[in-house]
Amino acid sequence: MQLLIAANWKMYKTGEEAVSTLADLGRLLPSPPGDRQVVVFVPFTALAQAARAAGPGLALGAQNCYPAEEGAFTGEISPAMIRAAGGTWVLAGHSERRSLFRESDDFVGRKTAFALRAGLQVILCVGETLEERDSGGLRPVLERQMRGGLDGVDPAFLPSSLAVAYEPVWAIGSGRVAGREEILEAHGLIRSLLENRFGAAGRGARILYGGSVKPDNAGSVLGLDNVNGVLVGGASLRAESFSAIARAPVPGTGR
Ligand code: 13P
Repeated sequence: MQLLIAANWKMYKTGEEAVSTLADLGRLLPSPPGDRQVVVFVPFTALAQAARAAGPGLALGAQNCYPAEEGAFTGEISPAMIRAAGGTWVLAGHSERRSLFRESDDFVGRKTAFALRAGLQVILCVGETLEERDSGGLRPVLERQMRGGLDGVDPAFLPSSLAVAYEPVWAIGSGRVAGREEILEAHGLIRSLLENRFGAAGRGARILYGGSVKPDNAGSVLGLDNVNGVLVGGASLRAESFSAIARAPVPGTGR
């Protein structure tokens, strides 16, 4: 299984800025290590330029989509438009979309299933707020988000086209990476939910960790059980730090 190293540029970078960062990345990481797949989730407006500028071995994705082929959905972008612009991946259910734009589990599930059927690969994002962790615990939140987010997903798309990113909301942009035990517990739970839903295919699907991943903690996070990649926000904006994360040695694995 290739590790999936993903950059989420959020609402940063114009097309020109994206091209310039990708050029730096091409110099620092001419091709990703063979055991790793690298994908950069850019703003919609940068996607076509970024796709033309991206070096070999680098895939591009969008950060959101609307689950319809086309229609009167002012301001929205379809999976087909993403593909036409050169994107092969899309994020679904990032916590910023859930909290700022009130996206429900059900809507995230519709996007995930639709984007897969439309030929995109999808990273479904899940994760609890600090309040949820302190009140009801982790399990009910992850169970609810996974049930809703995977409802209607055709098992044929697993394991390669669907990955799940565990991003505890309290670790995003806070500089406070989740601890070893916290990551092991959440990823173990997500693995068992994937297996319950998809059987053997769920065992092979990748589970990424996201939340304050930096060059100095990426290797140890990637070495944990059921961590098959990382989804990086702030530290992905500069080619120096993202290339260091993409090639971080994983202790004790020979990777
Ligand atoms: P940070 O790496 O900035 O904490 O962001 C994580 C994230 O939200 C990636 O999707």
